[in-house]
Amino acid sequence: MAATSTGQETWSGKAAFVFAAVGSAVGLGNLWRFPYAAGENGGGAFVLLYILCIVAIGLPVLAAELFLGRRGGGSAVAAIRRLAEADGRSGAWSLFAWVGMVASFLIVTFYSVIAGWVLYYAWTLIVDLFTSIADQGLAGLTGGAFHGQERAAIEGQLGQLLASPGKMILCHAIFIGLTTWIVSRGVKGGIEAAVTILMPTFFVLLVILSIFAMIQGQAVTALGFLFAPDWSALGERLSDGSILLSAIGQAFFSLSLGSAMMITYGLYLGRDQSIPGSASIVVAADTGVALIAGLAIFPIVFQFGLEPAGGPGLMFGTLPLAFSQMPFGSIFGIAFFLMAFFAALTSSISLLEVATAFADGDVDLDVEEKRRRRVVGAAVLGLVAFLVGCGHALSVVPAEVADTFFNDWHPLGFLPLFEGQTLLDATDGLTTYVLLPFGGLMTAIFAGWVVSRTASREELHFASEAGYRRWRFLVRWVCPLFVGAVLVYGAVVSPWLSGRPAAEAEPVETAPALPPEQQ
Ligand code: PHE
Repeated sequence: MAATSTGQETWSGKAAFVFAAVGSAVGLGNLWRFPYAAGENGGGAFVLLYILCIVAIGLPVLAAELFLGRRGGGSAVAAIRRLAEADGRSGAWSLFAWVGMVASFLIVTFYSVIAGWVLYYAWTLIVDLFTSIADQGLAGLTGGAFHGQERAAIEGQLGQLLASPGKMILCHAIFIGLTTWIVSRGVKGGIEAAVTILMPTFFVLLVILSIFAMIQGQAVTALGFLFAPDWSALGERLSDGSILLSAIGQAFFSLSLGSAMMITYGLYLGRDQSIPGSASIVVAADTGVALIAGLAIFPIVFQFGLEPAGGPGLMFGTLPLAFSQMPFGSIFGIAFFLMAFFAALTSSISLLEVATAFADGDVDLDVEEKRRRRVVGAAVLGLVAFLVGCGHALSVVPAEVADTFFNDWHPLGFLPLFEGQTLLDATDGLTTYVLLPFGGLMTAIFAGWVVSRTASREELHFASEAGYRRWRFLVRWVCPLFVGAVLVYGAVVSPWLSGRPAAEAEPVETAPALPPEQQ
């Protein structure tokens, strides 16, 4: 493990960094969140706005976060404070890195619950495969998953899981435990080793799954839904700002922006790495995976007459149906959910890394001291995340099964945007629609207006002056004005005026009810 004399680790090479950054970006945000956000916002129009947000806002902010981290060093908070002070500004600018750090920690608390669902699905499919082989021999291997089960039972997998808090908490514990262990091992031993093999395999499986879904399902309807915007519906949705807030929030979430996370991975970035080039690869890979995930899910949604606006349960209700129809469905299903699990893991590692990098101290500490602090910091943060995650898990359990305080607790219910939402939904909404856009907005202002032109030009090192000018225009004007306006209008003004949530506020219990025999 190479480390500089100050104890600051660096990535082992250019490819290692790109894999790690893609590993962070690609995760449940693409597979789970993007399809349901697109489904709830009417499809094509949302996808179009999302892509615009990615190109005009996501890409420049990503480049900004990476260069701020690399130039500042230490931890995200220390980096911003140092850069501000270097330009004679107040160290209080580092407050926005604090907000990002809190956001990334809050995200990991619920992210690991959803990742636990993915693990449970992989496990269920493994059990199903062995049962099918025991019952039918080789046919059990070659046939679809969940052989002999009714459609309602296959679709109702999530309903069953939500009704078993013990299983949900166990899967969450396994996931957060693994995350904590990898983060405690540091940048190379843990993070790099995990991403280099997993990301490419995951991508291949996802492509196979989407091709299958398009052949078996309603490909034309799905393509129309995702890529042909319905302009009249767009006009209506634009008026309350909800679709724009959803698109911006999703763009930040999916690219891991506004959470101090990319600032943190920038800390370990070597000087020879081109930031504009790496940022473009990360954006292309992340957007590609989200769109392909849409193509894997929506053909099945339309084939089975499911509801595109099915909310957070969407992926978990549709994919089992696809696997039940597919030849070798169990094998594909197991491989897919295991890979999704790893994609989620590489993201949650990055989420926990933000606060851990802060806990392990600034650049002036030596290697041993930093390592010791890292282990203790990761362990404490992992434990707290586990405990908060138990609250998230209990908040989605139906009250008939376990009637706890969390069923009925609406932590941000006093704000119109979060009315009626229990802990998991409210935390997802608060981070995605408020904290990340705010973090991104502040990053843009800081990189465009506070850090000197010389510093950003030198650090970004664009191939052409025109490229640099374009970047600077976007972070100085487009990002602050656009994100600021959408944030104020979509999160504050519009929900207050209409007295209802602007962003999607579907409860998680959108999975079909338990089949009668299991109730
Ligand atoms: N981008 C990750 C995903 O799509 C989630 C994430 C958000 C990771 C913020 C880090 C920071 O799953």
